[in-house]
Amino acid sequence: MKILLATEKPFAKEAVDGIRKITEQANMELCLLEKYTDVQELYAAVADADAMIVRSDQVTAAVVDAAKKLKIVVRAGAGYDNLDLDACTAKKIVAMNTPGQNSNAVAELALGMMVFMARNSFTAGTGGELKGKKLGIHAYGHVGRLAAHIAKGFGMEVYAFDPYVSADKMKNEGVIPVNTVEELYKNCHYISLHIPANDETKKSIGYNLLSLMPKGGCLVNTARKEVINEEEMVKIMEERTDLKYCTDIAPDNNATMVEKFGIRFFATPKKMGAQTAEANVNAGLAAAQQIVNFFKNGDKTFQVNK
Ligand code: 3PG
Repeated sequence: MKILLATEKPFAKEAVDGIRKITEQANMELCLLEKYTDVQELYAAVADADAMIVRSDQVTAAVVDAAKKLKIVVRAGAGYDNLDLDACTAKKIVAMNTPGQNSNAVAELALGMMVFMARNSFTAGTGGELKGKKLGIHAYGHVGRLAAHIAKGFGMEVYAFDPYVSADKMKNEGVIPVNTVEELYKNCHYISLHIPANDETKKSIGYNLLSLMPKGGCLVNTARKEVINEEEMVKIMEERTDLKYCTDIAPDNNATMVEKFGIRFFATPKKMGAQTAEANVNAGLAAAQQIVNFFKNGDKTFQVNK
């Protein structure tokens, strides 16, 4: 049985070693396709794979079509907007993610980005502190919860908006629930985005919401670039010269943002929220174990194309 680990952005060696150990103990053969630059390499590698582990790699209908034996694909991570679920379902391929496994890395980066922006992108001049500031967590899932927890250590007052999470759960965790997304943006100096990219959320963060933010407001996006309305982002940052935006997923209009907004904008050169050895190990090993459990016991926990 062949397990393909296809990662355009490779895992740390420690994670690959752990994945190999789990798959070999289950008498499966692990094949690596790392740092590929041409999708043809992925088509060729997946052709005879029984299972595949990916990160943000695009599992399109064409990839699914090239896979002649594939039974399961596991996105080692949270967001599965890179998987064509309909194509998988049509070929009876089980698609899974590994929720929560890389969340701490992303949450730590979100808070690090807040410090970076509060200190004028580490340039000279007087910065500010996070203590006493209001943080709005936009979507209280695995990452949002951890970001809230860390933010409280900084002495921030934490609010959250998430229509899918009960107010009681937030209150029990020392977070103030708000009823509308507008209230979140209106109240908070910092907003940390943790929404998935889907039909409901794409381009949903734009002029109207950002214009509600208090003076000096800062948006931190470690979620997905697709949730931002880029044109409206430019418009509001031109109008409101106090607003800041920091992200680990460079927008399509990165060059324009850099040119127009200088230190009020920062994007990491490569998507890096979950790029830690610890997150790689947690998510990678979970993915391998889920594949073993699927073939051994038919375990479909974490299936996302039900
Ligand atoms: C996720 O959805 O788990 C994160 O965005 C991490 O993505 P990555 O595997 O590409 O780093």
